[in-house]
Amino acid sequence: MALDMTPEQKETGKGNFARVVGKLAEADQQAHAPQGITRRRFMQGLVAAGATVPVSAAAYFGYRSHGFPGTTRPVKAAIIGCGDEGGVLVGAHNPNFVKFVAYSDIRPYNQKRIFAGEPTGPRLGFNHHYGADAKRTIRLEEDYHAILRDPEIEMVVIALPLNLHAKVTIEALEAGKHVLCEKLMAWNITQCKQMIRAADRANRLLSIGHQRHYSMLYAHANEVVNTGVLGDIKHIRALWHRNNVRPNPDTASNRDRPMLDSWWPNIPADDRNLSLETIRAAGFKDLNELVRWRLYTRTGGGLMAELGSHQLDACSIFLGKKKPLSVTAVGGTHFYQDNREVEDHVYCIYEFPGLNYNDRDPRSRKNDIITVTYSSISTNGFEPYGECIMGSKGTLIVETEQNAYLYGLAGRSTQVTATAASGGTIVDASSTAPADARASAAGQSAAALTGQNAVGHNAPSRGYREEMEHLAYCIRMREEGMEADRDQLKPRCDGRAAMADAIIALTANQAMKNRARIDFRREWFEVNADPTRDAQEVPDADMREEAVS
Ligand SMILES: NC(=O)c1ccc[n+]([C@@H]2O[C@H](COP(=O)([O-])OP(=O)(O)OC[C@H]3O[C@@H](n4cnc5c(N)ncnc54)[C@H](O)[C@@H]3O)[C@@H](O)[C@H]2O)c1
Repeated sequence: MALDMTPEQKETGKGNFARVVGKLAEADQQAHAPQGITRRRFMQGLVAAGATVPVSAAAYFGYRSHGFPGTTRPVKAAIIGCGDEGGVLVGAHNPNFVKFVAYSDIRPYNQKRIFAGEPTGPRLGFNHHYGADAKRTIRLEEDYHAILRDPEIEMVVIALPLNLHAKVTIEALEAGKHVLCEKLMAWNITQCKQMIRAADRANRLLSIGHQRHYSMLYAHANEVVNTGVLGDIKHIRALWHRNNVRPNPDTASNRDRPMLDSWWPNIPADDRNLSLETIRAAGFKDLNELVRWRLYTRTGGGLMAELGSHQLDACSIFLGKKKPLSVTAVGGTHFYQDNREVEDHVYCIYEFPGLNYNDRDPRSRKNDIITVTYSSISTNGFEPYGECIMGSKGTLIVETEQNAYLYGLAGRSTQVTATAASGGTIVDASSTAPADARASAAGQSAAALTGQNAVGHNAPSRGYREEMEHLAYCIRMREEGMEADRDQLKPRCDGRAAMADAIIALTANQAMKNRARIDFRREWFEVNADPTRDAQEVPDADMREEAVS
């Protein structure tokens, strides 16, 4: 992402970012001195002390209170879908907030892995959190309906393939459970609206796993953007590039499919005897579709659903959660020869409204457009993933959910200066002062202010742990009847926020398919606007039967 920068320039960019974040905290402290602790004051306390202790995300996002964690009971939860992402969520969860008591999966391989975890990486397994005999307290239900019938279970985490998100979420909400469902929210927009309405009807919380809403790195980056330090933002370049290419080792099929990738995982021996009856009952045609669901349009949403939705989610946050105006896209299966139905390369251009754009006001500047380009390619990971926000005064890069770099126009080796003032923070991106070693060191220590991941490293938390903690907090506080805070007591990425992400991603798929420029319509984003002209039609009779009313 930070394509041509030297290590020194990266250090300077990190230092610039950290310095501005620190000054924002300082200004906030001055402004709110008489009114008690604010989240920035808390951050600033650590900055001032020169601490390298990561700031608690709970304090930053406002849920470090009312006995959490500690005196308040953790929320009893179950997870449905214990594959790659289910493993990440189990690895990241905090049992002081969320205590798993049951799980559902039909694949024997994943039923084992969810306990044992993996020797490296974020999938720590139930045993890591609950001890070697975790199986005694966390029960398996191959049919997830048994979980929904259990009155003890308060919250359900859903990490299933995309085709099942709406069906299982709605069933869970109707059974009285609070739900965290993985992204993309649903397979089409109609389903998103049905999920939101089901949550409203059931008076239950629905959170969708776009974890950047709980990333302190992104929260801080957004605060930096909001200072205006970047000037007039006219372009964001977002991307997710990967190369997971591997030769097909199977000599019988390698003429048809010479190259494979991570979306064509091997089928583990443990799963080869799964009965077709079980697979069909779970919602899949066969074992191949169950394991490689991302490749098929009936079960997945392609690169825009799996990857692009993350970047466009971040772009929307940086642009003040504005809805896009249009999208143009091209893409296709340009590399793999494995009969996949989804693209392996996509390139999109979105137009977003600028600050002075208002299509209802004739005096507004209709040409005040912010262009967001997005590319997702599957054959080269030279630049990995992130967003580069480019304004008339500066540039901010957020890379791999781990680093942020800030630069002014004066160059990549110069400091951005920031001054705390009680009326706000003055940030000057035009300084030509060269960065010095001390500035870089300050950047290093303040870089730790971006949270802590579940493994205990000082690497920034990506937000998985926090999204579960916050949902648990909201559940308990609502029970306590904290009516005054009711608007606050909801997930940061609730159904409405996530539906916008789904619309943005799925409409790009339509633009690609139809080789067209599509203008977004206001009513697509309105939950109660029916009928929806859907960006993705229900593809076959099987799915139609499953669609929920
Ligand atoms: N937020 C993120 O960063 C992130 C990252 C990766 C994946 N995801 C999302 O997480 C979801 C799951 O992805 P994954 O990579 O874990 O897929 P996966 O294929 O590894 O896991 C899915 C699991 O669901 C199980 N399953 C399917 N149908 C079932 C049923 N009816 N009952 C019980 N179990 C069933 C499968 O056996 C499998 O173990 C997807 O929506 C994906 O987009 C999110």
